[in-house]
Amino acid sequence: MKQGRLYGLGIGPGDPELLTLKAHRILTSSPVIAYPTMESGKVLARALVADFIKADQIELPMPLPFSVERSSQPSYDIAAEKIAVHLEEGRDVAVLCLGDPMLYGTFMYIFNRLSPRFEVEVVPGISSVMASAAMLGVPLTYRDDVFSIIPATLEGEVIREHLKMADASAIIKLGRHFPKVRSILEDLGLLDRAVYIERATWENQRIVPIREVELSEITYWSLILIPSQTQPL
Ligand SMILES: C[S@@+](CC[C@H](N)C(=O)[O-])C[C@H]1O[C@@H](n2cnc3c(N)ncnc32)[C@H](O)[C@@H]1O
Repeated sequence: MKQGRLYGLGIGPGDPELLTLKAHRILTSSPVIAYPTMESGKVLARALVADFIKADQIELPMPLPFSVERSSQPSYDIAAEKIAVHLEEGRDVAVLCLGDPMLYGTFMYIFNRLSPRFEVEVVPGISSVMASAAMLGVPLTYRDDVFSIIPATLEGEVIREHLKMADASAIIKLGRHFPKVRSILEDLGLLDRAVYIERATWENQRIVPIREVELSEITYWSLILIPSQTQPL
């Protein structure tokens, strides 16, 4: 029997209209749709494209932890094997990924486990980082600028060094790391250039100057963007 194909489906940052035509075609035609569920039980990726999922599609929720050493975690082995059962039986499986699948995406851990055994196609999506620049209405990089994506989970010194070297940066995975990041931005004189954006492109998107952000209101779905210095026309 011919095996099914595994799709890593970038569904974009949240606004369903930012789904690509290709992602929409695969989402609406794959017999099996898999998506991560958080430990809290939230099923965000599914919720964002819920209108496109049909009743006759098999749904495969994957409980996956959001922690640092995820590549070694058995949750990914279990999820991969559940997907493999469908692929072995000839059914295509589309794994929903917020933003782009290959940029800090949970899909990559499924990809690493299953790509040696099955045919895989990755459909790129609009990353939250790119969408945030568009939502803020700021040019991100000019000419030979260097752009860094920095996880806030890194040690403060490492974040500081990356920020010093880059012309423009995005700081992702803020959560409880926000106070550390804020104080580094203050030290480097970047507070006025940096902008906090949460749930970019969702209906409840919020854009807040860093000085006004309260730690208690920080969501996982947020990032700080530091655009390049404004250039002459
Ligand atoms: C594990 S990374 C996944 C990135 C995703 N693959 C992408 O391309 O956007 C998760 C981080 O992306 C950022 N993020 C994802 N979606 C976001 C959104 N809609 N608005 C703001 N930040 C977002 C947050 O910093 C979050 O902690």
